[in-house]
Amino acid sequence: MNPKPFSPTLQKKIDLLKAKRSPIKLGAIDFDSPLLLAPMSAICNYPFRLLMEELGAGGTVSELISCHGINYGNKRTREMLYIHPREKNIGIQLFGEDPQAMAESAKVAQEYGPKFIDINMGCPVRKVVSKGGGSALLKDTKKLAPFFALMKKSLEVPLTIKIRTGWDVDSINAPEIIHIAKEEGVEFVAIHGRTRTQQYKGEANWDLLEMIGRTSPLPIIGNGDLHTAYTTQLRMKTTACQALMLGRGCLRNPFIFLESYLEDPKEAYFSPDDYWEIILRYFEYLEDYATQERTLLVQMRKLIVWFVAGFPGVAKFRGDLFKAKELEEVMKISEEFFKELTISNQFAKNIDHEKPFMAGGHG
Ligand SMILES: Cc1cc2nc3c(=O)[nH]c(=O)nc-3n(C[C@H](O)[C@H](O)[C@H](O)COP(=O)(O)O)c2cc1C
Repeated sequence: MNPKPFSPTLQKKIDLLKAKRSPIKLGAIDFDSPLLLAPMSAICNYPFRLLMEELGAGGTVSELISCHGINYGNKRTREMLYIHPREKNIGIQLFGEDPQAMAESAKVAQEYGPKFIDINMGCPVRKVVSKGGGSALLKDTKKLAPFFALMKKSLEVPLTIKIRTGWDVDSINAPEIIHIAKEEGVEFVAIHGRTRTQQYKGEANWDLLEMIGRTSPLPIIGNGDLHTAYTTQLRMKTTACQALMLGRGCLRNPFIFLESYLEDPKEAYFSPDDYWEIILRYFEYLEDYATQERTLLVQMRKLIVWFVAGFPGVAKFRGDLFKAKELEEVMKISEEFFKELTISNQFAKNIDHEKPFMAGGHG
């Protein structure tokens, strides 16, 4: 499916900033820039990944996908593996506790054409951890070498991992895990700078991430709390990590990957019309992806509400949007909102980034 082209004005703005990016290689994997989209469950489906790649993400990762769901041939799980032909730098993330099951599911997943397979070793959610998956894998490092080795054996594409800094403040073991990963041929390590116990509280520990970035034998992707183009640009200029990963930031600023390359990331670069255009683009992808009108409505409303956070008049708009029962109405109200909006400068948005936002997730 080829979408309707962006207007020449918007396309030109996108191209100008995309031209400022430099491609990078992390291990054996090529990316278009060092700013990657973080995996986010129920968000990073192909419509969203594709949109973010078009809006400057140097690469993307799927949401976490259950190895058991894949191995049982669960229809919904298998659908999650789908990669759109226009997605360029995409990895599939798997989760599970059993090396054999993970290796088996990785074999299936690679048939869908990802550039790499990633292991989720950061999910703090009890349901996942209690079975030994996600961040529980950080606890028993003796098990990791044979786990990685088995995964590697079943894969033709590269293997990567996404971890947290450790289980808790007394067991920070990211450096040890990185060394094991290096020995077993893992390509890179993405690190969310919090411990499992921290969940999403407090701040990501960038001092630690920088220390690891300086000394790691593997490429490191630093992740956590890069919520604005301004903070991302600052970090990009000084970081010892080889790349950065952004999650929640792009939900409030879908242009964050591009605006991080502005000379002044506080400048108003993308207009309200540009917002509306990218929302329509997402809608086109979603129409192709979602089989039910209800899913379309829920997904569109969710995304629009995130994108408008902090804009003037948003409280009333949000209220109207949640009252709307039909998709057509959601789109009409939203179009009117963007047509009347005069400011779209991200820096002028009234958002307190110290306040927790989406303080829960699978990594
Ligand atoms: C809603 C949500 C869902 C998430 N799902 C995943 C996931 O499926 N796999 C994963 O490794 N991390 C997941 N994460 C964690 C993010 O990838 C990232 O590590 C975390 O949000 C910190 O980065 P940020 O501050 O840029 O958002 C999720 C986070 C959120 C907020």
